[in-house]
Amino acid sequence: MGHPARWAALLVLGATWQLVLWGTARGGRRSPHNIVLILTDDQDTEIGGMTPMKKMQALIGQAGVSFANAFTVTPLCCPSRSSILSGRYPHNHLVRNNSLEGNCSSLAWQKSQEPLAFPVHLQRQGYQTFYAGKYLNQYGHPAAGGAQHVPLGWSYWNGLVGNSRYYNYTLSANGREEQHRQSYQEDYLTDLIANRSLEYLERFSHPPFLMVLAPPAAHSPWTAAPRYATAFGSTKAPRGGSFNVHGKDKHWLVRQARSPMANTSIEFLDKVYRARWQTLLSVDDLVEQVMGRLKALDLLASTYVFYTSDNGYHAGQFSLPIDKRQLYEFDIRVPLLVRGPGITANQTRLEPILNIDLGPTFLDIAGLNVSETAMDGQSFLPLLVSPAPPSTWRSDFLVQYTGEGYPDKDPSCPALGPGVSQCFPDCVCEDAFNNTYACLRALHPRSLQYCEFADSQAFVELYNLTSDPQQLHNVAKSVDPTLLEALNQRLMKLQACAGPSCRD
Ligand SMILES: *[C@@H]1O[C@H](CO)[C@@H](O)[C@H](O)[C@H]1NC(C)=O
Ligand SMILES: *[C@@H]1O[C@H](CO)[C@@H](O)[C@H](O)[C@H]1NC(C)=O
Ligand SMILES: *[C@@H]1O[C@H](CO)[C@@H](O)[C@H](O)[C@H]1NC(C)=O
Ligand SMILES: *[C@@H]1O[C@H](CO)[C@@H](O)[C@H](O)[C@H]1NC(C)=O
Ligand SMILES: *[C@@H]1O[C@H](CO)[C@@H](O)[C@H](O)[C@H]1NC(C)=O
Ligand SMILES: *[C@@H]1O[C@H](CO)[C@@H](O)[C@H](O)[C@H]1NC(C)=O
Repeated sequence: MGHPARWAALLVLGATWQLVLWGTARGGRRSPHNIVLILTDDQDTEIGGMTPMKKMQALIGQAGVSFANAFTVTPLCCPSRSSILSGRYPHNHLVRNNSLEGNCSSLAWQKSQEPLAFPVHLQRQGYQTFYAGKYLNQYGHPAAGGAQHVPLGWSYWNGLVGNSRYYNYTLSANGREEQHRQSYQEDYLTDLIANRSLEYLERFSHPPFLMVLAPPAAHSPWTAAPRYATAFGSTKAPRGGSFNVHGKDKHWLVRQARSPMANTSIEFLDKVYRARWQTLLSVDDLVEQVMGRLKALDLLASTYVFYTSDNGYHAGQFSLPIDKRQLYEFDIRVPLLVRGPGITANQTRLEPILNIDLGPTFLDIAGLNVSETAMDGQSFLPLLVSPAPPSTWRSDFLVQYTGEGYPDKDPSCPALGPGVSQCFPDCVCEDAFNNTYACLRALHPRSLQYCEFADSQAFVELYNLTSDPQQLHNVAKSVDPTLLEALNQRLMKLQACAGPSCRD
């Protein structure tokens, strides 16, 4: 062998050896893949919330896997988003509600939980990270560092100050305040998130990267882009199931809902229902644009794309006009679709996946081990890519919620007095301090839900979801008390879990 050839061989050998070493260090993985998470707001699966998303379903779902049993562990924006970021149940991240006192983006959260969130782990592992859109409802509050506070872990930060808006908002652009008014061309938030994402991909992205895109849709104030303002003109919220049914054997808050609903409530919820769909059409465009740019940049084969929402939604179920915050399926089920390298196209999977599993899955993609973190969730990467996924997967989990109320009165219905909130339209309240509950939701061996309320009655609800998928009949009073005892034991165990014990 002549010298040049020998050098060439040595170089090749050296490069191979390095690859092997690097591969071994990362548990035999190839170069870490990029991750894109698209996180919508209040998008349900149970009352038709996915119907307007045709392009997204084709580009992500049919190109990958749809999870038919995906859940949030808490059905309210800020606690749910905190669970997604931290990979933890609310009893471990301690974000109780949407206000600062309930730890939503509070200084205590910033100090104790934000440093443990998935972007921090990924950035430390060499990922470049990009965020655009709604973060936590109180983000940017003057009492919690203002817009200057850029959460740890983000290389490129475009965080919405406060709760969902479509116009007239402030953005923190890497800690600098950016005011946005009401120009469709310059400010419509879903479009702005799409445009910033495309610009990031084109000009700044450097693999491996993480992108989180969090549009305001389908949250209030439900402002459609002008191009969609007349879409779905005759669409109404679906009737049937538990629509306009009195939840007569449920906890007091549901029982007090007027049933049948006032006509004005029905008109209101139908209008909101249409407007929600209209706002989602802009998200469908966002997905199409981002997927198109990933393809144009030849990044599809190296990028996982996740699509989900923070919680579900209801519109007339059990005569509650519109909201989330209830323990029922419509509020706790969320969409979850994933495409990416090694994922067989057009599958539906039935394993229960939780929002606290997203962080662990992202860490797994990056070659990190969730058991070395404080996360309660579990990586579902094996379910995505293995020909033979693990035979064991959780069969039950915990749903927790701490009710919100006004200490004096709800401004939308002052006559009702203290303790309640979300009392609109027509003075029907959707929340109260004692709408505070913990539930065990089991899928195997039986599909059931067992809930305990922290109210003065210690109210209990139990549903057999196999025979009663609409949760019309609370059977807590008619089952064998030993079953309730066993369910209570399991619930108590989960309420005390942390890390590995949540994954048992
Ligand atoms: C907020 O979080 C801090 C620190 O994590 C905790 O000490 C405090 O009890 C939490 N507040 C609530 C209302 O849970
Ligand atoms: C934006 O703010 C302006 C000025 O306060 C107001 O007139 C307008 O109605 C707002 N637009 C939207 C869509 O909220
Ligand atoms: C987004 O980009 C498109 C195409 O350049 C442009 O027409 C639109 O006005 C932009 N929208 C926003 C809100 O930036
Ligand atoms: C409410 O709507 C129903 C059905 O459309 C109608 O029959 C009824 O008269 C309406 N009630 C009122 C008070 O408008
Ligand atoms: C995906 O599966 C569904 C039902 O199994 C089938 O109708 C559809 O044609 C498939 N789509 C693609 C793109 O393979
Ligand atoms: C949020 O939680 C905190 C702490 O428990 C509580 O003080 C506050 O009243 C709650 N906020 C609402 C709107 O219920």
